[in-house]
Amino acid sequence: MNEQQSIRVFEHADELYRMAATFVAEQIRSAIDNRGQALIALSGGSLTSRLYPLLANAPLREQIDWSRVSIVFADERYVPFDDSENNYRATRQTFLDHVPVQADQVFPVPTYYRDPQQAATIYQQQLTALLTAHGGQIDVALLGMGPDGHTASLFPRHPVLTAIPAGALTVVVADAPKPPPLRLSLTPAALNTARAVVFVVSGADKAAAVAAALADTGDAMAQPTRLINPVAGTVYWMLDRAAAERVTQ
Ligand code: 6PG
Repeated sequence: MNEQQSIRVFEHADELYRMAATFVAEQIRSAIDNRGQALIALSGGSLTSRLYPLLANAPLREQIDWSRVSIVFADERYVPFDDSENNYRATRQTFLDHVPVQADQVFPVPTYYRDPQQAATIYQQQLTALLTAHGGQIDVALLGMGPDGHTASLFPRHPVLTAIPAGALTVVVADAPKPPPLRLSLTPAALNTARAVVFVVSGADKAAAVAAALADTGDAMAQPTRLINPVAGTVYWMLDRAAAERVTQ
């Protein structure tokens, strides 16, 4: 096992999300205590419905100085902000509209450009400026994982995985196997700037993918979570018992 990796298993999904939200709040607080500010990257999926509401409500909501938090997205479905598939829209509904963050602290992927490559270029510029202002590191990157092993919008064996230019922080993903097919993702290089990468995964349908992700060997192109190895940070896997069922160590 990677030494900079920690695995925690919780009996039930409710407990998993509660402990994961508490852990993320601690990481944000510690970033603010130590450096005066925090930069966090959010994903969509079940984090939106299960984890973000816990950050947006007492007691965690009151434990964070939200005026010091900047928020980017680990990935986005390339649909307009008012589309029900849009991660930013969903995240506002369960999280961002319920905490005191100003519009200039939140950096949605600009899906209003006709050319997604232009959006990727602009998002990369925004992220570069944020990283510069935050000592080169995302403080917390929150990630999920699909039953197929994808994370953010990095899908197993997708041709884009081998075509990401060195140093690119964002990438356009077309033909994603999970709808909608057009997406924009942070790259492994961007996610690997994180001090803490937190994978939160629940459910028996993820058990095989979790076991493959945590096995000692495996092909990173088939298991994109293997591409996530922070340069100066730790990967935390937070699992419920069902998702951890096939992990052997
Ligand atoms: C997306 C997500 C995606 C998600 C995983 C896990 O927009 O599709 O950002 O990467 O995190 O698909 O989603 P679940 O937790 O809902 O399975």
